[in-house]
Amino acid sequence: MKTLIAYFSHVGENLQNNEIVVLEKGNTEVVAEKIAALTGGDLYKIEEDEPYPYSYDDCLRRSRREDENNEHPALKAGMKLNMDEYDTIYLGFPIWYRTYPRVVASFLDAYDLSGKTVRPFCTNDEGTFGISLLEMQGALKGATITDGLAIRGVSVHDSDDRIKAFVG
Ligand SMILES: Cc1cc2nc3c(=O)[nH]c(=O)nc-3n(C[C@H](O)[C@H](O)[C@H](O)COP(=O)(O)O)c2cc1C
Repeated sequence: MKTLIAYFSHVGENLQNNEIVVLEKGNTEVVAEKIAALTGGDLYKIEEDEPYPYSYDDCLRRSRREDENNEHPALKAGMKLNMDEYDTIYLGFPIWYRTYPRVVASFLDAYDLSGKTVRPFCTNDEGTFGISLLEMQGALKGATITDGLAIRGVSVHDSDDRIKAFVG
């Protein structure tokens, strides 16, 4: 059985140290690639059909709207994963509005992860998973969710030791 690293990551304006910065490569993507290099697992980028805005303020507005209305936006049509091939899934996301972006909820709707080991990792500005792990436990009833790794966006390039320890 194989390992999958499925992640969502946003390119464009983002929040780092409480300031708006432009990221050409998302923080979560940086971590996902490091995990893939360490595990030899397959990388899969979760993508939304209607792209999240480049602007931080617009993105925050949409993320709040999706959160408040419990919207699960459509995934971009594309390669459908064959989950039967995988037993371990690293699931990565940025914290948006204190939980995972709603497109990650759409991903969890789309695939049956029961019986799998799910290893969550996130990047954020405030240092924590927020309510995302609690929410994930509700969404993934039949999966085993391990301890997660939370990394501040400003630290993704200096976290190799923590990432190695997480992967084990
Ligand atoms: C729309 C939006 C909402 C955010 N909300 C939070 C938040 O509630 N808590 C937090 O710690 N960081 C928050 N952030 C910061 C991101 O979690 C952080 O910059 C993360 O590293 C971005 O990862 P990415 O580049 O892979 O998208 C938010 C960023 C955006 C764009």
